[in-house]
Amino acid sequence: MEGAGRESDAALEARTERAADADAEARGVGGFPIPDNVYAETVTEVEHYTDRLFRFRTTRSQAFRFRSGEFAMIGLPNAERPVYRAYSMASPAWDETLEFFSIKVPDGPLTQHLQKIKPGDTVLMRKKPTGTLVLDALLPGSRLYLLSTGTGIAPFASIIRDPETYDKFEQVILTHTCRIPAELRYGEQLVAEMRDDPLVGELVEGRLHHYTSVTRDADFPRQGRITTLIENGKLFEDLGVPPLDPATDRVMICGSMAMLQDLKALCLARGFEEGANNKPGQFVVEKAFAD
Ligand SMILES: Cc1cc2nc3c(=O)[nH]c(=O)nc-3n(C[C@H](O)[C@H](O)[C@H](O)COP(=O)(O)OP(=O)(O)OC[C@H]3O[C@@H](n4cnc5c(N)ncnc54)[C@H](O)[C@@H]3O)c2cc1C
Ligand SMILES: NC(=O)c1ccc[n+]([C@@H]2O[C@H](COP(=O)([O-])OP(=O)(O)OC[C@H]3O[C@@H](n4cnc5c(N)ncnc54)[C@H](OP(=O)(O)O)[C@@H]3O)[C@@H](O)[C@H]2O)c1
Repeated sequence: MEGAGRESDAALEARTERAADADAEARGVGGFPIPDNVYAETVTEVEHYTDRLFRFRTTRSQAFRFRSGEFAMIGLPNAERPVYRAYSMASPAWDETLEFFSIKVPDGPLTQHLQKIKPGDTVLMRKKPTGTLVLDALLPGSRLYLLSTGTGIAPFASIIRDPETYDKFEQVILTHTCRIPAELRYGEQLVAEMRDDPLVGELVEGRLHHYTSVTRDADFPRQGRITTLIENGKLFEDLGVPPLDPATDRVMICGSMAMLQDLKALCLARGFEEGANNKPGQFVVEKAFAD
């Protein structure tokens, strides 16, 4: 009966290992605790486009709910009090994984580290999403304009992949303006994949228009800021649609503060009323970054 009631060495080892795993989980990856209001997601995919832009995918906790177009605060488990920054979910609300499209700021408190993530790494995400670039903040209409510059395309990458968008609008016009052509690649790739997908392709055919322009490469076929292309009428001429009209058109805007200010003034001058979550309107705006 010797040893009865006493643990074998192997059982003790297994129990110690399990306790260590549980302890590591409580402490979080990198030895820092993961607070209750944060999800720890695992990176599954990373793709770099330029020295300033990349996209990545992560797992999605089943409990995480958001509306296409919203943003959440993300960070890295690299400090007791990590830096969190606002990020639009670029994937649609129905997707089982999450996609983000990100800038790389050389000395940026978050992105100097975030740009180095690899599959298997952990990204932290606060549990509460928010934002005004949602279909609920717009009154019904027939044509939806999604006007973006730089990483401002991220919330629209979510909205164009949501079938609800096509239930609510006959035409969806996504504009994306960047300094150089390489910065347009994420959007071009995304729209091409949608068109190639048998189910989605059928839904968006003839209804999703992707209109790109650049401002600092004279060789690209379409030149100019979106403000200029709206004011001189080239956008509408190229698309074969009438100019902006609050009776039929709805507008979402995402870019730098300067771009938002100029496009907001342009919409107000054409009689559009700004909307919000608690009061839907004819256009909505959100910063792509704070400056
Ligand atoms: C509502 C909202 C949603 C956002 N969604 C995204 C997103 O989906 N993808 C994304 O990359 N960023 C997004 N941002 C910006 C993001 O929150 C961070 O600013 C960015 O990740 C850089 O973080 P950082 O700590 O490295 O540098 P920060 O200290 O945050 O920024 C340093 C400087 O870099 C420049 N900068 C920051 N972000 C950008 C950007 N996106 N494009 C161009 N210049 C920039 C600005 O000049 C800024 O002052 C969003 C910001 C807001 C307010
Ligand atoms: N892109 C780069 O190569 C680069 C490199 C180093 C640092 N940065 C810095 O990173 C920050 C963000 O750069 P970014 O290129 O992502 O964003 P950005 O400066 O907002 O430019 C993105 C696009 O928006 C256009 N734009 C700017 N202001 C506008 C306005 N008021 N109305 C309509 N369109 C407008 C730009 O045209 P214009 O070209 O006419 O301005 C450009 O085509 C800036 O502070 C920049 O100095 C950028």
